[in-house]
Amino acid sequence: MEVIIRPDADAAAELVARVIAKDLRANPHLVLGLATGRTMEKVYRHLVRMHRNEALDFSLCSTFNLDEYVGLSPEDPHSYRHYMNEHLFRQVNIAPLNTHLPNGLAPDLEAECRHYEAAIAKFGGIDLQMLGIGQAGHIGFNEPLSALRSRTRVKALTPTTIQQNGPLFGGEDKVPRRAITMGVGTILDTRRCLLLATGKEKAYIIARAVEGPITALISATSMQLHPRCTVVVDEEAAGELQGVDYYRWIFENEPEWAEFR
Ligand code: F6R
Repeated sequence: MEVIIRPDADAAAELVARVIAKDLRANPHLVLGLATGRTMEKVYRHLVRMHRNEALDFSLCSTFNLDEYVGLSPEDPHSYRHYMNEHLFRQVNIAPLNTHLPNGLAPDLEAECRHYEAAIAKFGGIDLQMLGIGQAGHIGFNEPLSALRSRTRVKALTPTTIQQNGPLFGGEDKVPRRAITMGVGTILDTRRCLLLATGKEKAYIIARAVEGPITALISATSMQLHPRCTVVVDEEAAGELQGVDYYRWIFENEPEWAEFR
């Protein structure tokens, strides 16, 4: 795991977008794992800008989103399919057939979860997975106590998550109680992860995720087991990390990061 600290939220999001763009240019058939949420909106803004101004081409890539609410139709403005259409898919040249999210309306949710795993495998696995982090440490909707080897499944949302997402739904009572999410094991199988966290409200959980012991109580700690996970934070989200001097040294000195400095 490595930690990159950028001065502010926009610079952190831009770095994530630039890493994605670099990988997409190197491999136009990239299989990209996507996340939703407020933090990711800035990343998508940068990707759309790069598509428009720098000819970043999405025509051959495929995407798999981490999660979708159970019970929401793709047209529902609160669904993650709607979010992705608005923030990315409709604004770049991606083929709609190459974009995948779990179907929260599937009559057989367990079968839907199995199909989602099979579809990821059919595409050869996920090359680059974007991740956000919830304030209780979830990645995707892998709520506390999610098994570290879990696969795509239906998960009940915790009160913290419902509270966190309440404002987006116009009230906590309107937030769906369940979601389909890739499992921690599914995420650990991806070839590379980029976890983005910004703002001081993420400082406590980022310190636990990066420097705390691995525990199913905080799904994001599982990223310590991932062979290639980069955590990108702004100064505020880095506020409670102990090892910042070392993390800054890596970014300033390692050749891999030279083009991103
Ligand atoms: C959503 C997802 C979630 C969010 C997390 C942070 O697809 O994967 O884990 O990344 O809840 O959300 P924000 O960015 O809104 O704080």
